[in-house]
Amino acid sequence: MNTPEKEQQLFFHTYKRLSLEIDRGEGCYLFAKDGKKYLDMFAGLAVNVLGYNHPAIIKAIETQIRKYNHLSNYFIQETQVQLAEQLLKISGYEKIFFTNSGTEAIEGALKLVRKWGSAKKKINVFGMTNGFSGRTMGALSLMDKDKYRAGYGPFLEHCGHIEFNNVESLKSSVDVNTAAVFLEFVQGEGGIVPVTQDFVETLKNLSEKFGFLIVADEIQSGIQRSGKFFAFQHFNIEPDIVTVAKPIGGGLPLGAIIGSHKVADVWTYGVHGTTFGGNPVACAAGLAVLNALTTREMQVHINAMSEYLFAKLHDLQQKHHVIKEVRGMGLMIGVELHRESAPIVDAMLAKGVLANATAATVVRILPPLILSKKEADEFLTIFQEVLNEL
Ligand SMILES: Cc1ncc(COP(=O)(O)O)c(C=O)c1O
Repeated sequence: MNTPEKEQQLFFHTYKRLSLEIDRGEGCYLFAKDGKKYLDMFAGLAVNVLGYNHPAIIKAIETQIRKYNHLSNYFIQETQVQLAEQLLKISGYEKIFFTNSGTEAIEGALKLVRKWGSAKKKINVFGMTNGFSGRTMGALSLMDKDKYRAGYGPFLEHCGHIEFNNVESLKSSVDVNTAAVFLEFVQGEGGIVPVTQDFVETLKNLSEKFGFLIVADEIQSGIQRSGKFFAFQHFNIEPDIVTVAKPIGGGLPLGAIIGSHKVADVWTYGVHGTTFGGNPVACAAGLAVLNALTTREMQVHINAMSEYLFAKLHDLQQKHHVIKEVRGMGLMIGVELHRESAPIVDAMLAKGVLANATAATVVRILPPLILSKKEADEFLTIFQEVLNEL
């Protein structure tokens, strides 16, 4: 049996995997075992922001792994403290808790919100329609799509859904009993859909009126992906809690819950925890990611590449009426089509470009943030070729 056949036999069939066997990665490219080269325009689902084989990440991992690769959270760990310090300094928040994944950050944020609300008799939490929070039960409770929820109920009690970007739905849902509203400021899995300023303003006013918390899910949009450190920074709002994951561990499993002064004292010794969360090697890699991404040059680069890609994709839209809309922020771009996106993504793969189909009709583009203009042009050429062949 070859490896793909073994995979079929051994695994629960939760992933419909690509028929590619990757040997190694370098920069924005992946090299398959058959020698074929692929330009990676979805970066391991928004994780590999510095591409593959980045020297700073490798050096950080090597240095840390020679000291210790795990101690447990019984110990104070230097790289963990350094990453915490950096993240809080950059974001201006007060407290942090490290997790292993995005969904675990969401679960932790839910617990933090519930504990905060329990003292104030505020129990209701809300997610958004078309949102994505993860695969664990709390995360699924915040989501509304059958695609992810069917057969898994019952879900968390007192957990509802507000229609994304619908101000009336927001107004009619929240009240004094609301503990928190969770949202992605740019919905990722949902097809790269940014929130409207109007919706954010209303949310901000209602949270002040009723005294509930706003939780920003920045797991996909955070850490410079949107062109700013957090996507919410485009909307003149300061959420009370922020969840991050995906890019923050430089390809190793790491996430975090970041809290403002409002929730700084909610958790006390022993009320929440994890064995692996904040693994020192992942934190060392995370420090390398932050060092690389927060330079002025990198910020200018990300915004320049974003402008370039948006301009070129809008040009393509003029020529190809199959493109309904080009939307997003920074290097988080969705091209909505008037037809299914999966065959387009398959055709691009055959020509050596990896993109991702999400929300049925959207081609999702989440390249490494180090993407060069030459690489962007390579993607644009192949995308155009595929559209021409339709
Ligand atoms: C916005 C958002 N929240 C939460 C998650 C869940 O993260 P993880 O897959 O690391 O559990 C994802 C993953 O795609 C996400 O995009």
